[in-house]
Amino acid sequence: MKDDYLFIKSLKVDFAPKKAPVRALESVDLSLSRGKRGVLIGPSGCGKSTLINVLAGLNADYSGQVLIDGRPPLRGGETALILQDFGLLPWKTVWDNVVLGLKFRQKSAGEIKAAAESVLEKLGLLSLAQRYPAQLSGGQRQRVAIARALVLEPKLLLMDEPFSSLDALTREEIQDFLLEIWEETRLTIFLITHNIEEAVFLGEKIFIMSHSPGRIRQEIENNVSNASRQRGQTQFWEMCSFLRSFLHRSSHYAADA
Ligand SMILES: Nc1ncnc2c1ncn2[C@@H]1O[C@H](COP(=O)(O)OP(=O)(O)OP(=O)(O)O)[C@@H](O)[C@H]1O
Ligand SMILES: [Mg+2]
Repeated sequence: MKDDYLFIKSLKVDFAPKKAPVRALESVDLSLSRGKRGVLIGPSGCGKSTLINVLAGLNADYSGQVLIDGRPPLRGGETALILQDFGLLPWKTVWDNVVLGLKFRQKSAGEIKAAAESVLEKLGLLSLAQRYPAQLSGGQRQRVAIARALVLEPKLLLMDEPFSSLDALTREEIQDFLLEIWEETRLTIFLITHNIEEAVFLGEKIFIMSHSPGRIRQEIENNVSNASRQRGQTQFWEMCSFLRSFLHRSSHYAADA
């Protein structure tokens, strides 16, 4: 619906390298209410990152309608984007990585110190503040990336396969942690993943994208995903298996089409 926090209608994105133009997205319709957790899942190359880049305001070269809280996407502002490789600056310490966005926004030294300390504490990173990214584990690096996004108090958190390089246990820890943050802040989350269990654990609404050029093939209301840590229960596995069979069916559909 048009008054949803996130509203996308008939989105189309073409890339036009000289020799081989690519239609990355076609007729994408999607909406998500404020404070909800949406997860987008789909095969490699179907256009997921293209979509999230549009939402993050990094690509304005699209047609159709894209509204966040009634306005076209803007770089920065109320939206934070976390990428697969975490996007940390290797030559800056944890502290400097986290305060970068605040400095950019010309906050006072006192405000910067208070905000960074509070977020680093919440994420259990305060004792690592003077380390460099190379001196951290993958999970710690991921938490720094989340800290860097949260310190700016975003209303919308966009994540492009943020946990894919983590081992299974660390990944689950960070997923739990993301839910805790969501419970505290009730910010709107839109996350891309290849991982079915992750989609079912985190997504209140799961959007399935078809093969390139991507469009939303199906939207699933996922009642299993709530903040009560359902992982491992029968209902959870049933939902995973439902989603898995759906993804298989849509990939056959795409191959046949
Ligand atoms: N800058 C670009 N120039 C030309 N083609 C591009 C560009 N960026 C992406 N594409 C193409 O657009 C399509 C969608 O790419 P995108 O990165 O959005 O896919 P994805 O769903 O995120 O894939 P993955 O799951 O592998 O990350 C692909 O065919 C890709 O090759
Ligand atoms: Mg991608």
